[in-house]
Amino acid sequence: MVSIFPAYLAPLRESLIGKAVDRGLIELGVHDLRQWTHDVHRTVDDSPYGGGPGMLMRPEPWGQALDTLAPASGAQPRLVVPTPAGRPFTQALAHELAREPWLMFACGRYEGIDSRVVDDAADRMVVDEVSLGDYVLAGGEVAVLVIVEAVGRLLPGVLGNVASHEQDSFSDGLLEGPAYTRPEVWRDRPVPDVLLSGHHAAIARWRRDESLRRTLARRPELLSTVALDKADAKVLAE
Ligand code: ADE
Repeated sequence: MVSIFPAYLAPLRESLIGKAVDRGLIELGVHDLRQWTHDVHRTVDDSPYGGGPGMLMRPEPWGQALDTLAPASGAQPRLVVPTPAGRPFTQALAHELAREPWLMFACGRYEGIDSRVVDDAADRMVVDEVSLGDYVLAGGEVAVLVIVEAVGRLLPGVLGNVASHEQDSFSDGLLEGPAYTRPEVWRDRPVPDVLLSGHHAAIARWRRDESLRRTLARRPELLSTVALDKADAKVLAE
């Protein structure tokens, strides 16, 4: 990943992803874009042609960064460029990116990167401009943290328990319902009886019902993409 604030990406050395790096499951390289500047001020920005507020990132340092890190003569990474103008980042895209052997991330700052950088890169590698959501961050670094965490936990061996992917929110198109651990009663609030019943089919049905209810309440638009049977339809009609 390339950024003018490489220290922003330090959290990737912590926690689940950091452990995966320590165990050799993920290789992470963080590069300061300014090493590809050549003036005393190490300038990476300039004002936009055509006018308008703010500054854009100049193309030359980015071009050199990509040529150095991914020489045109060799294997190419898939380039992910976080931008609010990108396509939405989803769990489906996280799975798609998790299949790639090599991802490169270009973190823009200011009002973004000169558009020719993406056009030029796209001549030799797959480029995805990706948005985290409909809001504007100050730069791509936090978006990269999010994307790397979402993709990294899908890589083989990174999570101890593979089955936990299968129960993730969105893996069946629905939000995950509520979950509980010990104690059985806390502040007069008991855990739902069914979860203590040992009746696996009843527990699965209860979880499905809770997922459906929560999805209907919070993200009803997701339901149009999910195959619903009669039992599902009944819960949703309640
Ligand atoms: N950079 C600035 N805002 C962003 C967003 N919403 N998603 C991804 N990258 C961004």
